Amino acid sequence: MNLWQDFLTNDDRLIHKWTHYFPIYEKHLTEWRNKTITVLEIGVSKGGSLQMWKRFFGPLATIVGIDINSDCQAFEEDGIHVRIGDQSDPDFLSRLVEEFGPFDIVLDDGSHQMEHIRKSFEYLYPKVSKNGIYIIEDLHTAYWPEYGGGKDNPSTFINISKQFIDDLNADHSRGAIEPNFITRFTFSISYYDSVIVFQRGNIPLKKAPQVSVKNLASRLLSVDMR
Ligand SMILES: C[S@@+](CC[C@H](N)C(=O)[O-])C[C@H]1O[C@@H](n2cnc3c(N)ncnc32)[C@H](O)[C@@H]1O
Repeated sequence: MNLWQDFLTNDDRLIHKWTHYFPIYEKHLTEWRNKTITVLEIGVSKGGSLQMWKRFFGPLATIVGIDINSDCQAFEEDGIHVRIGDQSDPDFLSRLVEEFGPFDIVLDDGSHQMEHIRKSFEYLYPKVSKNGIYIIEDLHTAYWPEYGGGKDNPSTFINISKQFIDDLNADHSRGAIEPNFITRFTFSISYYDSVIVFQRGNIPLKKAPQVSVKNLASRLLSVDMR
């Protein structure tokens, strides 16, 4: 069963997701199914999405949910851990990473407040596992003042993330852009309606050799093929 079918037929705890997120989840998360991974969802609410992730990722996955509301502790079950705390508190996040990390997938569906999103991202993204995924959803709140949003407000996560496009290309900027954690740890950044997906990865072979098929391997890898 795919995630969309699972969502539509859910008769267990309540799940609260926008329908257009499901193709995004399928695109970025399907390859992680049935692997030994650790998934963190920020924002537990009624506990249904944690159960959905458990069904989707399978029996080898460890699912961790965090929420500021202590009632959410009740949604722990086999394979699902819940910790109570504030997503913007680095001490809480540090304890979380120490207990369960590194996370392979982080999904921020928490307060949707701009400052909280930024603080969680700044702390957790550099600690996500190699090739891991960091998804922030409901970023339409970046345009809503009650969430710290506003189209031209420089501190919305959408506006902050625009700089990441330059950071991703910093190595080619002839010194104009200082390489940072986005440059060094990021393979791709994908934008969707209300959602940004970061895929981690290192790119050690940043070269643009001119090759023919004959000497492709030798030029790329500096191996003597004679
Ligand atoms: C949109 S709901 C989560 C929905 C759930 N992921 C689902 O798909 O069914 C957001 C949750 O974030 C929690 N939350 C709000 N502020 C938070 C914060 N600062 N830190 C952690 N969780 C927070 C709320 O208590 C609420 O349960």
